[in-house]
Amino acid sequence: MEKSERIAIAKHILALIDSEKPYMGEEAWEADIGRFVDQDRFDLEKRKLFLERPQLIALSADIPNPGDYYATDIAERPILIVRGKDGVARGFLNACRHRGVKLAEGCGHAKGFTCPYHGWTFSTDGELISVPSRQAFDPEQMRDLIALPTHEEIGVIVVHPDPEGQLDFDAFLGPMKGVLEDMELGSYKLVHQHREPARINWKHAVDGGMEAYHVPFLHPTTFGTDGGGYLPHMQFGDHHAFITSGPDIRSLKNLPESEWPHSCHWGSVNAIFPNTVIGGGNRQAILFFQRTEPMDKPGVCNYNYRLYAQPEVAENEKVLSDAIALFMKVAFEEDLPTQVSSQIMMESGAVKSVVFGKREACLTGMHKGYDAAIGHDSDAAVRSNSARMGISSTR
Ligand code: FES
Ligand SMILES: [Fe+2]
Repeated sequence: MEKSERIAIAKHILALIDSEKPYMGEEAWEADIGRFVDQDRFDLEKRKLFLERPQLIALSADIPNPGDYYATDIAERPILIVRGKDGVARGFLNACRHRGVKLAEGCGHAKGFTCPYHGWTFSTDGELISVPSRQAFDPEQMRDLIALPTHEEIGVIVVHPDPEGQLDFDAFLGPMKGVLEDMELGSYKLVHQHREPARINWKHAVDGGMEAYHVPFLHPTTFGTDGGGYLPHMQFGDHHAFITSGPDIRSLKNLPESEWPHSCHWGSVNAIFPNTVIGGGNRQAILFFQRTEPMDKPGVCNYNYRLYAQPEVAENEKVLSDAIALFMKVAFEEDLPTQVSSQIMMESGAVKSVVFGKREACLTGMHKGYDAAIGHDSDAAVRSNSARMGISSTR
């Protein structure tokens, strides 16, 4: 991102601090809850938002060295990312070409992938290199792994889950590329990984990461009681950022702009369409990466949560273990149970709509993006729900 753009954002934060008024987006928006509970909508989302679009599914730090791999998924489609001997990150469908068995789980380092069922073996660049009783097959039946369009740049790995899909990295990230580039994601090390099935619609976790309105109430002993009111929300193409800043930003007032550091003492939590959230300030010591992958029902997802640290922090055991414990507590003991409660209330019919206030502008932005991508009219859905319940939609 150009320094001038960073300065403009820093000035915006300083103006909010001076005015002692929290940032407010343009509208408070009422949205139908079909987006969290409706099976037809959910099935459409899996196709339109996930399987037909590129996805930012990993950081380069997930597979730093040749032979490193990371097995994950995109909306239940199993994906294997591997760094080849040539240093290139490649994505494949994680399925053996004999009878489809998954070849790898989790993260690790391998010279190749041998299928546990009948021993077909594939190289790290996806080539089928060994088949027991080779003469039992016709030559054209012995195939390499199915490669997926994959692009690695600025410390992130983007994969299209459709082998025939189009992946234009710059078009996919748009102006968000500059924001991520400034985070220097390539300089981090993976320090913790967690994955669990969660009893929420995948969007709850994105929503939870993208506003600080809840922080003083849900995280008073972990993140503190500062409501972060001075933190603007910004749209970057299909993506949204929730700008974060520390007390250092006030020191800029005493410096001429030419001496402001490139970071301008602000960072961001970024929602990359549709469900990747990457958080941490510029050059912040710890970074989180989260993707909640839809499973078969609207109210369940696979929650992938990964933490990264700057090398000097990664080597400091005490600082690192405290930081990991804090992030895990916030995400899985504070945020997730609250999101589960919201999901269950929605499924019970206790609420027919939700409201995103002006301090939840990123959520409104992301949800409107989802609606646009699947052709959903939320306002009409709210009106028809209200009509069915015999209430005014403003009640
Ligand atoms: S399914 Fe993989 S070798 Fe048979
Ligand atoms: Fe939270």
